[in-house]
Amino acid sequence: MGRKFFVGGNWKCNGTTEDVKKIVSTLNAGELPSTDIVEVVVSPPFVFLSQVKSELRPEIQVAAQNCWVKKGGAFTGEVSAEMLANLGVPWVILGHSERRALLNETNEFVGDKVAYALSQGLKVIACVGETLEQREAGTTMEVVAAQTKAIADKISSWDNVVLAYEPVWAIGTGKVASPAQAQEVHAGLRKWFEEKISAEVAAKTRIIYGGSVSGSNCRELAGQTDVDGFLVGGASLKPEFIDIIKAAEVKKCA
Ligand code: PGA
Repeated sequence: MGRKFFVGGNWKCNGTTEDVKKIVSTLNAGELPSTDIVEVVVSPPFVFLSQVKSELRPEIQVAAQNCWVKKGGAFTGEVSAEMLANLGVPWVILGHSERRALLNETNEFVGDKVAYALSQGLKVIACVGETLEQREAGTTMEVVAAQTKAIADKISSWDNVVLAYEPVWAIGTGKVASPAQAQEVHAGLRKWFEEKISAEVAAKTRIIYGGSVSGSNCRELAGQTDVDGFLVGGASLKPEFIDIIKAAEVKKCA
């Protein structure tokens, strides 16, 4: 069975209610491939989740950009997985490199977060990726394997997880990984799944690419065997996000 193409739009810490209205109306008016071909999820900041969820066409799902590592309680400023589930938010992005770097989230902490979110019925877009220094030192696979292992150590099923490979040097820089660079790491991660988890998990788990994906580079990236979709930052705020979603058609013809 094939892996359904997956496109996530990570809005990060951007937008006003007016901006959100505009983005939602562009998405609602866009001509999208059918849901048999592509699964689309957008991730607004927490404060806009309800607005987006109620105004957006039903084929597009929403994701939170983070959630707390365990059950809610006396954790000022945090949002719990239970709250997201209660709001009917199906997805959450965890382990984004901006949170790993700026908020010191460790591999183990991300693993705990993924496990807790799954236990509450959420689906998870789990992010991994190497820095430029790590790539130049030749440790890319080691780094992403360790990040993936820290998640694998805490969960018993990968059914509700999409793994996003996002090289840190490509995020928000306009410096996209070449299709060959992306394919190499995606294939390496799939092999890791096969060796460390199971052939079934390797075959079924979607591995998506993130880092400066745009309307102009998405089709070539989508053409790579092990690239099952995208996590899009900057371009997900613009009308070209529709073109990126349409890159799913590349797989249909493959
Ligand atoms: P970018 O961000 O598309 O703006 O590079 C990707 C991401 O951080 O998910």
